[in-house]
Amino acid sequence: MKTYLFPGTFDPFTRGHRDIARRASGLCDRLIIAVMENSAKKPVFTPDEREQMVRLSISEYDNIEVIKSSGLLVDIYKDMGCCAVVRGIRSESDFRYEAEMTLANRLLYPSYETVLIPCRDDMSLISSSIVKEVGHYGGDISKMVPAEIVEMVKNKLTERKL
Ligand code: COA
Repeated sequence: MKTYLFPGTFDPFTRGHRDIARRASGLCDRLIIAVMENSAKKPVFTPDEREQMVRLSISEYDNIEVIKSSGLLVDIYKDMGCCAVVRGIRSESDFRYEAEMTLANRLLYPSYETVLIPCRDDMSLISSSIVKEVGHYGGDISKMVPAEIVEMVKNKLTERKL
């Protein structure tokens, strides 16, 4: 069975992330989405909230599973028997970042592989940071995050302001 791993902070999960997950799930037998921590980021949403948002957003796909981890990516990769990590790329700078991450992970686990999926044109400007910025000021985020989580994201971002 070919298992791919799609890791991210997903703070919050965006339509761009969902598009990558949908396309990646068609390239493998099982896709595991891992809600993780990035030591450079201070997430607004808790790990449980981020996991719940991913679950709600991908419920229609039978071969996608969701897990949560605060450990190393290569450990999940090994433990879950994955053959590649999937990442979406929007730009040249994303590519550079992903290349560095792949090299670092390969030092930890030599058979580590990455599949890079270019994002759709209309999603190239969506990022979790933009969702938080727009939502913070009460703007419309419905084109940026999956419909299933729009209210949850809005409520959290509004509640933070109070
Ligand atoms: N469409 C829209 N947005 C996209 C996207 C796409 N296709 N692909 C990426 N993005 C955006 C995200 O919205 C996010 O935006 P932000 O920077 O404003 O938050 C950014 O690009 C990337 O975030 P995300 O996809 O959530 O992943 P990440 O880069 O935060 O995740 C980890 C990094 C979690 C995979 C990495 O830190 C990790 O492996 N952590 C575990 C610890 C570890 O093993 N570290 C060693 C790594 S070498």
